[in-house]
Amino acid sequence: MARRPLIAGNWKMNGLKADGEALAKALAAKLKASPPAVDMLVCPPATLVDRVAQAVAGSALAVGGQDCHAEKSGAHTGDVAAVMLKDLGASHVIVGHSERRADHGETSADVRAKAAAAHAAGLVAIICLGETEAERDGGRTLAVVESQFAESLPEGASPDNTVIAYEPVWAIGTGRTPTLAEVAEVHRTIRDLAAKALGKDAAGRLRILYGGSMKPSNAKELLALEDVDGGLIGGASLKVEDFWAIAQSA
Ligand code: G3H
Repeated sequence: MARRPLIAGNWKMNGLKADGEALAKALAAKLKASPPAVDMLVCPPATLVDRVAQAVAGSALAVGGQDCHAEKSGAHTGDVAAVMLKDLGASHVIVGHSERRADHGETSADVRAKAAAAHAAGLVAIICLGETEAERDGGRTLAVVESQFAESLPEGASPDNTVIAYEPVWAIGTGRTPTLAEVAEVHRTIRDLAAKALGKDAAGRLRILYGGSMKPSNAKELLALEDVDGGLIGGASLKVEDFWAIAQSA
């Protein structure tokens, strides 16, 4: 089944007003001049979502958050609600990134609640899954992905409001990637899990992204895999030429 790829940039904790806006505007201009056959999204830090959304309004470049709280409002100092991101013009939000799971102790139950909040706010939740190096070395990759998928997917998830991102933790920011066969195996497994959870048709429409040291030199072969429907890109999304080159190779 044909799925339109999604090339998503996660800027992580990078960017001040001027450079964030310049990066987003440059991408929006490229999209306007030669629209690629993919959807493109940037997820700036929360401080820049408003500015970036305004800078690219009317363009094909979508804007997302990197995390959201499970509640709509309340006494949660420093947190950002999904409805707040929506209010700023975001259409997507990443939930369950391994850096959130590791740095903030987020569990899959937390991720599920955040994804549900995203859906309630009208955002597409990009739910991240992936094994650590020790888990891969211990032969537990598929079991970890299976349990994270089962525990992180909220009720009401569908291909219209949910994207899955497979990100092996040990491949993030390291320059290392799994073999193509390993990526293909995990993505196929996720598709099978989705078929059981959502039904075969929905699973066929669900976008499953690969993330972890994706760059112009390896994007083509990763994106050519049958069940890889785009990328969640960190470091390479901070350079217009690199991010654009990845989009061109999808
Ligand atoms: O969210 C993006 C991923 O963590 C990948 O980051 O492309 O810098 O390895 P990276």
